[in-house]
Amino acid sequence: MKIAIVEDDINMRKSLEIAMSDYKEFKIITFKNAVDALKKLDSTFDLVITDINMPKMDGIEFVKELNGKYEVIIMTGNATLSRAIESIQLGVKDFLLKPFDVDTLVAAIKREDKIQKAQKRVPKKKSDASGFLGSSSALRKVLNIADKACKTDASILLLGQSGVGKEVFADYIHKNSPRAKKPFVAINMAAIPENLIESELFGFEKGAFTDATEAKAGQFELAQGGTLFLDEIAEMPYSLQAKLLRALQEKEVRRLGSSKSIKIDIRVVSATNANLEQKIKDGEFREDLYYRLNTIPLNIPPLSQRKDEILEIADAMIEVNCKKYSFKAKRLSEDAKKQLLSYAWPGNIRELLSVIERAVILSESDIIKTDELFLQNKIQ
Ligand SMILES: Nc1ncnc2c1ncn2[C@@H]1O[C@H](COP(=O)(O)OP(=O)(O)OP(=O)(O)O)[C@@H](O)[C@H]1O
Ligand SMILES: [Mg+2]
Repeated sequence: MKIAIVEDDINMRKSLEIAMSDYKEFKIITFKNAVDALKKLDSTFDLVITDINMPKMDGIEFVKELNGKYEVIIMTGNATLSRAIESIQLGVKDFLLKPFDVDTLVAAIKREDKIQKAQKRVPKKKSDASGFLGSSSALRKVLNIADKACKTDASILLLGQSGVGKEVFADYIHKNSPRAKKPFVAINMAAIPENLIESELFGFEKGAFTDATEAKAGQFELAQGGTLFLDEIAEMPYSLQAKLLRALQEKEVRRLGSSKSIKIDIRVVSATNANLEQKIKDGEFREDLYYRLNTIPLNIPPLSQRKDEILEIADAMIEVNCKKYSFKAKRLSEDAKKQLLSYAWPGNIRELLSVIERAVILSESDIIKTDELFLQNKIQ
């Protein structure tokens, strides 16, 4: 197993190198900052272990840059524990609270190794965001509004913390709308470099800029007749917001480098986990665009307010994962259930799904025990 350790503190780095050299099964490469690591990381690495507080680029930003390409374990001191919540939302599944002993680190690496091996054995299926599991009264309330809104062409703004299911809702709205048979086109503002968002959205003609060797339709055109899902809308560059608003109001777009307008017929659903009202106050988001997108706001409550869903989703996902990995049926111990119910779930349903998958793989018997959930050293 080839592991990158990113740690700015030289003493910590050296002591980890020395301690880990006893384990021949792990090939450890250390980096003193995230910028160096980003340059050197390639597909031969199996795991990244990183500190959070570091000069140049901090661990959270680093994990964002990695963009899910590597499994990550975070090492953090108490002072940065709250930032570790962000890492969970980025898909980090494990973190170690400093100071920790080498056995704790090795145990975490071995867990990760076991999970990766189990995952390699099964063909990768893209997790689809179809269908809701769980039925809390809080969720039902939102679904009721969604059911009414579906039928219209009104713009819907999905609000809620990371991992609550905004994308699942967007998909639901499209599938239950009169546009269901037409395209559903999703575009994530946070995933596209800022300078490409405009051409992605609106398309371009051949020769519009240096690299435009061929004309290309934008996402607006591709969504013709269907639904355009603008994910992470708060990340949209301010300079483009006016252009987006104009396209929505006039129901037409113009490709870059073209003088011809194209009529568009789309329904817009957008989503964000940011506080847009604050962004408006700070001059980062246009108020007029906000009102245009926010005809019907749907506030999706965090999992901590949908407690009656937790065990329902957990049980369903245990079954799914046991089938996926060809294990005998497993179930939760009573204590494990209690812990799932009392945990804060900063990463919401996304975190619950990964905790359950991890527990199914790691549990030794057909009863999943509390310590196999690995929630104990996390934020309560
Ligand atoms: N009610 C649900 N039933 C089953 N799975 C769900 C449910 N809600 C969300 N999920 C799953 O949880 C994960 C996170 O959901 P989703 O991607 O929709 O969250 P999000 O709110 O868009 O998060 P982010 O703000 O980080 O983009 C996905 O794998 C999704 O399939
Ligand atoms: Mg999302």
